[in-house]
Amino acid sequence: MDLAGKRIVLGMTGGIACYKIAEFTRLLTKAGASVQVVMTQAATKFITPVTMQALSGHPVYTDQWDARIDNNMPHIDLSREVDAIVIAPCSADFMFKLAHGACDDLLSTLCVARPMTLPLLVAPAMNVEMWQNAATQRNAAQLRTDGIAILGPDAGEQACGEIGMGRMLEPEQLLEEVIASFHRKILAGKRVLLTAGPTFEPIDPVRGITNLSSGKMGYAIARAAREAGAEVTLVSGPTALTTPYGVHRINVQTAQQMHDVVLSHVDGQDVFVAVAAVADWRVKNASKQKLKKTGEHDIPHLEFEQNPDILASVAALPAKPYCVGFAAESENLLRYGEEKRQKKGVPLLVGNIGHQTFGKDENELVLFDDKGNKRLPRADKQDLARQLIAEIAARI
Ligand code: C5P
Repeated sequence: MDLAGKRIVLGMTGGIACYKIAEFTRLLTKAGASVQVVMTQAATKFITPVTMQALSGHPVYTDQWDARIDNNMPHIDLSREVDAIVIAPCSADFMFKLAHGACDDLLSTLCVARPMTLPLLVAPAMNVEMWQNAATQRNAAQLRTDGIAILGPDAGEQACGEIGMGRMLEPEQLLEEVIASFHRKILAGKRVLLTAGPTFEPIDPVRGITNLSSGKMGYAIARAAREAGAEVTLVSGPTALTTPYGVHRINVQTAQQMHDVVLSHVDGQDVFVAVAAVADWRVKNASKQKLKKTGEHDIPHLEFEQNPDILASVAALPAKPYCVGFAAESENLLRYGEEKRQKKGVPLLVGNIGHQTFGKDENELVLFDDKGNKRLPRADKQDLARQLIAEIAARI
């Protein structure tokens, strides 16, 4: 669980986006977080504390003078022993209060009373004109200067019917931002290019040859790289997976297309991770029309030709990024892994221990570099992806 053991104060201020926080609370708790909701009076006009209590599983605080806290200092107690404060939705008025250190209700007071090291994240939600207003922009700039993270806002259709910047991020996006906030920005300012998934080589318009690959490992690495602060481009073969938040995805079908897209995007990349299960061969005599099954003994004769090796092509570039390859061998991984690393000419090669990892949520890896090999024991693919990103960051 991405937020296991994390304690989060979820502050809600007045705005129609409050209704989305019901879902956001559910996502936070499902991800393992313990959520303490604090609402301003304005927020309670949009959604009731009863709803938020039921979803968070904890009594909601709305009042500085709440007698349920023994010492009657909720602004102190609620901002201690927590891992982050998230204000969503954050109104223009509340941004003003944060920028000026106002303490005229429980939520603003506990933000001012929080320890300096406690992360504060705000998700603005307001009308486009309110967001663009010079005063709001001044306040946003001040919040950034003060080390407060501003999540979004997004552009789009607004509750008032106008269109533009000011929409709160969707609950799933907010969740990804909160998860990312707990990861060190070890790839800040870096650009990472990845391939993931299988390729599909047509035989005719309705048939083809592909590989067993769900894309899960590659997508998990793309997500981990973006959590670590990188700008991530994911070149993906056909998969059923959703694009990780904040990742730029380019869809391809064949190995040749994957090769061409990678080579046209490789300039200026710091890291290239080839996770895709690329078809080694393509059908040379692929048919433009569907092949017909005319008679019982009528079997098509396919001719094959070799696909380009994407990883080896990138590794051979004069100005190449730091290249990482993958290997899925059915036997002798320790020998073949190091041999493959040298053959491909890459500084780091990652072996899947056991080749039955396809489609699974868990994996076990062994890393090969010029110093030898190192195991990353069996774990969830997302955990392994984060460990791998740390290994890559340490090497570049
Ligand atoms: O050659 P093999 O398929 O065993 O090597 C696996 C590694 O090479 C993976 O990182 C894979 O993404 C990459 N590869 C590639 N282009 C190919 C074949 C493999 O980039 N045509």
